[in-house]
Amino acid sequence: MIMKKKKIDRETTDVLLASEKFYRPSRKFLASLQIKDYEKVRRQAGRDPIKFWTEAARELVWFKEWEKVFSAKSKPFYQWFVGGQCNLAYNALDRHIGTPVENKTAILWEDETGRTRKFTYREVYQEVNKLVNGLKSLGVKRGDRVAIYMPNLPEIAFAMLACLKIGAMHSVVYAGFSAQALADRIMDAKAKILITADGSFRRGKEVMLKPVADEAAVLAKTVKKIVVVKNNNAAVNFNPQRDVWYHDLTKDMSAEAKCARMDAEDPAFVLYTSGTTSKPKGVVHVHGGYPVGVLRTIKWVFDLKGDEIFWCTADPGWITGHSYIIYGPLLAGITTLQYEGVPDLPAPDRMWQMVEKYQVNVLYTAPTLIRAMMKYGNDWPKKYDMPSLRILGSVGEPINPEAWKWYHRHIGKGRCPIMDTWWQTETGAQMITALPCASLKAGAAGKPFPGIEADVVDKNGRPVKSGQGGFLVIKNQWPSMIRTIFNNPERYKKTYWQEIKGVYFTGDLAFKDKDGYFWIQGRTDDVLKVAGHRIGTAEVESGFVSHPAVAECGVIGVPDPVKGEVIKAFVILKQGFLGSEELKKELVGQVRKTIGPVAVIKDVAFVDKLPKTRSGKIMRRVLKAQELGLEVGDTSALVS
Ligand code: WTA
Repeated sequence: MIMKKKKIDRETTDVLLASEKFYRPSRKFLASLQIKDYEKVRRQAGRDPIKFWTEAARELVWFKEWEKVFSAKSKPFYQWFVGGQCNLAYNALDRHIGTPVENKTAILWEDETGRTRKFTYREVYQEVNKLVNGLKSLGVKRGDRVAIYMPNLPEIAFAMLACLKIGAMHSVVYAGFSAQALADRIMDAKAKILITADGSFRRGKEVMLKPVADEAAVLAKTVKKIVVVKNNNAAVNFNPQRDVWYHDLTKDMSAEAKCARMDAEDPAFVLYTSGTTSKPKGVVHVHGGYPVGVLRTIKWVFDLKGDEIFWCTADPGWITGHSYIIYGPLLAGITTLQYEGVPDLPAPDRMWQMVEKYQVNVLYTAPTLIRAMMKYGNDWPKKYDMPSLRILGSVGEPINPEAWKWYHRHIGKGRCPIMDTWWQTETGAQMITALPCASLKAGAAGKPFPGIEADVVDKNGRPVKSGQGGFLVIKNQWPSMIRTIFNNPERYKKTYWQEIKGVYFTGDLAFKDKDGYFWIQGRTDDVLKVAGHRIGTAEVESGFVSHPAVAECGVIGVPDPVKGEVIKAFVILKQGFLGSEELKKELVGQVRKTIGPVAVIKDVAFVDKLPKTRSGKIMRRVLKAQELGLEVGDTSALVS
């Protein structure tokens, strides 16, 4: 892992120049905020992070109070709120019943075709309880794993919450993954139930999920039952021995159900994410610490007062959706908007029209979407004043200053601050971000959230000078941090705690400017961000290699003006096979089959050899430098 120093220095200077201007909140806006001094809250929390998180934890309901807030007894398996008892679903849902929140809208839903649905907290509570009883009747127990493969429907929230209430772990798999990818994740978690939907609508077309679930269940023998939500009324194969309609399962069930008393450190869910090998990592989050981090960040970063309409445009299949479509808004007792569809149908003003229609107060989206909207021109958002919008957010990849400024000017109309929030599946909640009261720089993520200590260091862990690139690390622990990798504690230790001694290794490159603002520059490892979706190069390569014509394959991310990165593959064919346009298409199809439509392949090049180390590892860094015409850097390990 050698840094491309030259490249980083050049980029650093460009960005520093772009960063000179501060965007400061107006006096009127500042007066409206709950937190008015960014540095002060950071200083206070920094003096005693344990106290800070203890206060945050008191905003939740505990069945039994913890004995110890933080324990480093079995490093790096850190523990929070040790001895405490609680339940993430209880905090997100049950505790609102009997309070004024009960009759408030919890979920607003709309899909691409314009269908809408709406649920109050009480209605969500009843739906979840019915499903709890339904799942129990299928044999789901505390400690089991339930796989969820669904579009962005209210039922995905019900399913996640129902699992937690039982004390079972959910494992949500993004609906853009293929049957094979779904099956791999099901098998790793040994899930015995799969909850899915018949299908959904995307870009005017019907996207079927049930056939994918069927195929996955053949590969993953652990699945005994498939629960199917009827969403698009498509004709699907139905195996009455194994399959049950969601509406049939819940129809006669009681709308009351007990909530399991969980230990704070009991796992709540596993979420698979890509890393350096082709096997995805099952990131484990827990009942106690996770909601503490999520609730504190959503409230502070978006200045929630309790009545917001919150629209996070991610998908519940990724961590952003877990934390800021489902759990965060519900923990805070506000209204979350779920949109199942693309942002430019029927026209490129769909999002702005929805912001006005639902009076959205906070819009949390990704740079790739902002760039896509930018391409359609300024006239589309111009038609909408969007006075309800107060705060904007960005997440998933670095936001380039041009996109930042466009978002600020044309969507925020110059009055809404942009919270560029850096975090990861593993961190559970936002880690580096401004707060609305802060002065902002277009393209910088800001500073560590209160209670978080981050830095940029060299490979020996020594802090680098401001303006110089290095590895982004977290120097302390926080409640919503990953606890382990499911079934693989050794990989957890090695990936996060052994790369650089004594700190959490994020895998990202960054630099800090003279004002202490962090600028995130992308990954150091083999993880790609395609349209904000996290994909491992090794996973994509194994997809190519599973085709009989392919001998070897190296995959890199190539910059793309809209998607951030797209995938280019370099393929060596087996003897007897000839490269052709047809074969390219076939290979792309093969990757789609093994990983799913989420892995968008932009280009395939047939080559005779790939740059490798002595031990036979493909040097993707060299491939990338050659492709982009950059300096290759240290090639001492290169043999061919
Ligand atoms: C990248 C998504 C720059 C980063 C929440 C990180 C970002 C990876 C930002 C995690 C941001 C996320 N600026 N880069 N604001 N937010 N990233 O697990 O490379 O899907 O390591 O979590 O996304 O991706 P993940």
